Amino acid sequence: MKPRKIKDRIYWMGYVDWDTRLFDSLIPLPDGTSYNAFLIEGSEKTVLIDTVESQFAGELLAQLDNIPKLDYIVSLHAEQDHSGSIPQVLSRYPDAKLITSPKAKGMLMDLLRIPEETFIIVSDGETLSLGDKTLEFIHTPWVHWPETMVAYLKEDKILFSCDFFGSHIATSDLYVSDEARVYEAAKRYYAEIMMPFRNMIKKNLDKITAYDIAVIAPSHGSIYPRPSFIIDAHKDWIEGPSKNLVVLPYITMHNSTKKMVDFFVESLVENGVSVEQFHLGVTDIGKLAMALVDAGTIVIGTPTVLAGPHPNVVYGAYLANALRPKAKFLSIIGSYGWGGKTVEILAGMIPNLKVEVIEPVLAKGLPSEDNLKALENLAKTIAMKHKEQGFV
Ligand code: FEO
Repeated sequence: MKPRKIKDRIYWMGYVDWDTRLFDSLIPLPDGTSYNAFLIEGSEKTVLIDTVESQFAGELLAQLDNIPKLDYIVSLHAEQDHSGSIPQVLSRYPDAKLITSPKAKGMLMDLLRIPEETFIIVSDGETLSLGDKTLEFIHTPWVHWPETMVAYLKEDKILFSCDFFGSHIATSDLYVSDEARVYEAAKRYYAEIMMPFRNMIKKNLDKITAYDIAVIAPSHGSIYPRPSFIIDAHKDWIEGPSKNLVVLPYITMHNSTKKMVDFFVESLVENGVSVEQFHLGVTDIGKLAMALVDAGTIVIGTPTVLAGPHPNVVYGAYLANALRPKAKFLSIIGSYGWGGKTVEILAGMIPNLKVEVIEPVLAKGLPSEDNLKALENLAKTIAMKHKEQGFV
C-alpha cells in the first residue's frame, strides 16, 4: 500500500497484514492486524514514528522511497512488531537518530543490537521541534511493557499512541468507520495484553486526557477521528463495575462435567445471572479474555485426570491468573472417578486473582441429586453476591 495522507505533511505508512492469524504464537487474530508507522515532515526536520515487523521492512522502505532525508525515528515501544524494521530504516538513513524513552534504549540495544551512539533519550514531557511542528513525548509505562511512551503532535493535536488504544484489524479504512466493530477488536486487544496492567494504564489515561486530542493514531488498526469513543471504552473496561456475569471455562471427558455445567448454567439463568461458557478444547482464547473483562464471577469446570485438573483447564487457569481480571468471586465444579487433588491444585494456580472462593461442587462420577442441589445453591449464592455488589 502507498503512503496515505492524514493531514498536510503527515502520512500513514506501514503494513496491513490481512493474513496472519496468530500473534506472538499465542493471540488469535481473527481479523488480521496492521503495523502502522507515521511520517511527519516539519519545515526543518522529518521524523518517522515506529516501523513494522522486520519481515515487512521492504514495504515500509518502498513507502519511504521519495523521502530523501530522515532526521529521526521515534520508537514508542520496543516490541518487534513496531521496532523490528528500525535496523533496515537506519541502513537507508545512517544519519538518522533514534528517539526513545530511557528504558527502551537498553531494550532496543538488546533486542535489535542497535549501536548506542544512535540513540537520543527523551524524558517525560520533553519536546522536539521539527520547525513548524512540535512533538511532545509522554511517558506511559506498562502499556504493556515498561518502556512505552506516546507522542503528541501539538499543532495538529494528534496523539500517536502505539499499542495504547490499538486494535488488531486489517482494514482499508484509514479512519475508524464502524465503531461497533472496532470496539470489539479493541476490547479483545485490551483483554489480551493490557488488562493485567490496568492500574498503570488508568494513570496513563488520566495523564493523556489532560491533552487536547483531536485524533488518536495507534500503531495497530485504524485512526480514531473521535477519540472520546475509545478513551471512554478503556475507562469502562478499567474502572467500570463488573457485570452480573459468570464466565465458565470448562472441559469434559465423559460428559459428567458437561452435565454439571449444563445444569449449573440453567440454574444461573433461572436466578437472573448471565453466563458465557467456553469449552477449552475449542475456544478462541481471545473471546475468553474479553469475557473476563466483565466477569463478576469465574467458575472453572473440570474433570479430574491424573489426579488433578485437566491440562486444558490448567492452561485456562494459568491464563486467567496472568490476565488478572477484576472478578470478585470464583468457584470450581467438576467430576472425578476415584480421587485426586483438583481443587487444591487449581486453587494454588491462581494467586493473582483477588477473589472470594465459593465452595466448589465436585461429583464422583455422574452428578447425584445432592450434587445438583449443591450446584443450584452455588447459582443462588452467586446471584445473591452479585446483587450485594450491585453488578448489573
Ligand atoms: Fe504492538 Fe506490544 O506490540
